[in-house]
Amino acid sequence: MPYIPEKFVEDVLSRTDIYDVISPVVELKKRGGNYFGLCPFHGEKTPSFSVSRQKQLFYCFGCHIGGNAISFLEQYENETFVEAVEELAQRLNMAVPYENDSAAARARSGERSEIYEANKEAANYYYMVLKSPAGKKGLDYLKSRGLSDETILKFGLGYSPAARDSLYKYLKEKGFSDAVLRAGGLVIYTDTGQAKDRFFDRVMFPIQDANKHVIGFGGRVLTDAKPKYLNTAETSVFDKSRNLYGLHLARRSRRSYMILCEGYMDVIAMHQAGFDNAVASLGTALTPGHASIIKKYAGDNSFTYLCYDSDNAGVNAALRAMPILKGAGLDARIIDMSPHKDPDEFIRALGAEAFEERINRAKNGFVFGIEVLENSYDMRDPQGRTDYINAVAARVAGIKDEIERANYVNYVAERYEVDVGSFRKKVTQIALEGKAVFQTYSEPPENEVRYDIESNDMNRPQGVLIAAMAQKPEITRVVKDYLTAEDFEEGIYRKLVTEIMKQADEGQVKPQIILNMFDNEADRAFVSAVFEEDGLSDMTDEELSEAVKETIYKMVKRSMETAAKSGEAGTVQDVIKMQKKLQELRNLKI
Ligand code: CTP
Ligand code: MN
Repeated sequence: MPYIPEKFVEDVLSRTDIYDVISPVVELKKRGGNYFGLCPFHGEKTPSFSVSRQKQLFYCFGCHIGGNAISFLEQYENETFVEAVEELAQRLNMAVPYENDSAAARARSGERSEIYEANKEAANYYYMVLKSPAGKKGLDYLKSRGLSDETILKFGLGYSPAARDSLYKYLKEKGFSDAVLRAGGLVIYTDTGQAKDRFFDRVMFPIQDANKHVIGFGGRVLTDAKPKYLNTAETSVFDKSRNLYGLHLARRSRRSYMILCEGYMDVIAMHQAGFDNAVASLGTALTPGHASIIKKYAGDNSFTYLCYDSDNAGVNAALRAMPILKGAGLDARIIDMSPHKDPDEFIRALGAEAFEERINRAKNGFVFGIEVLENSYDMRDPQGRTDYINAVAARVAGIKDEIERANYVNYVAERYEVDVGSFRKKVTQIALEGKAVFQTYSEPPENEVRYDIESNDMNRPQGVLIAAMAQKPEITRVVKDYLTAEDFEEGIYRKLVTEIMKQADEGQVKPQIILNMFDNEADRAFVSAVFEEDGLSDMTDEELSEAVKETIYKMVKRSMETAAKSGEAGTVQDVIKMQKKLQELRNLKI
């Protein structure tokens, strides 16, 4: 395979103007700092496809496809990477310096397959331990939760022994290198350089990708110790925003839709009860990436059922997931499990047939949303009821599709016994006043972090910060004053920040080149989404500056707290110095 040196690709990207590549095929109009047009990758009537000349990236807010000029040609013209680079080089009259297949590329794919191999061996090992005397308490636990031997085998559940180096020794004996065990997240190193197993004394849930590779693990404690689940940290094969637990089985299910739940145990219980189409995200909120994976395997049938916990956090997570699923073209419905907390408990208490019935009675997101809304109004009081109906009217006004909107006008009028004509008028009036409430994605509020570790509550603010850094070198300078790349979420965010800081030092940040460092389409779409952070272009300079300061402040605080907890905090002087700096931040002009 011919290979084009990275340096040349970067050169081509620096000299190309993405606007010249896209504007001949998509009609673009300037809006704010960006250009907008109808997305060529999905059918739409209002433009949500944006092209940024400043960042040299495109991104569709509707279908979440994005990338640089190369990705555009790859996807729009169906070209390979090499073909796309060739085409751009030709426009620039540059000759392509081909080389033979790169050692670096081979090394990259080599590491990945070694990690898969090590993970597979680790899963075998944990299973073996589970079935041995050393794993008896784990096996007893799984049995007490109603799992059969067959289910345990199907999901490859296991147990990690209490000793802190048993897996390490086992895998070393099998010939795996320290580097691979570390890169795969199976082993961590202490300050003194000693290798230790990441997981010990936990029931192990191997996590497989759609192609059955073991990409990581979740480990559950048997006691009330925290954290309840420990997961593999982000590695080159384990990306939580692109994988779903149970997908390798669910994609082969004969049922044509998927059921999305919250936990590992939920997925397992559902499969055991015959719902072999259940999947779960890996302890994080649902992302557009997850939604597009579900869409990919859902085929023509676009139904997805949400089966989140019935507590407040679960209801809110479901409400947030709806627009994401809708954005991916999925028709989502919500399964009500009351009075039980989650599908695992529901099935154990009432059985598979009762669950099937709940599936049939699942509600669509709009209906579910307005039912939840009822709880905020006093429905027995006429004033409360009126306020509620008006709030619902605002939501109806926010429905974009005309036919759908008309259907809901009728539905609401009938259900709440209001005159359909007056309700329709109310909806129109609200729309005209510009007070319609649209179903859009919103981030979890800060006090509602479900998981005690690895929460991603800072993800969106971090994304905004990164987008701002790419846009304004001043912001990068301030960030560098307070934070290092290590303060950012592991994985894509950290990689982005590292690169932005590096390029800023060298003089200019080029998002299109940073994007080029990610080698799969899904990551590139995610990176474009971060850079094209919705709303950033609508912010005034002042708002942006406040948002930046707020995020820096929270991140510094959080890093200080984590450091204090793990006993790694600096000296008292260091802490005081940082606190003083934080106060300066408040008054800083950015
Ligand atoms: N989770 C996590 N880290 C935690 C707690 C939860 O990553 N400290 C993730 C896991 O993926 C878990 C999911 O969030 O499966 C849902 O949490 P929970 O409802 O507590 O887990 P269950 O799978 O229902 O576990 P169990 O029934 O064993 O308590
Ligand atoms: Mn549970």
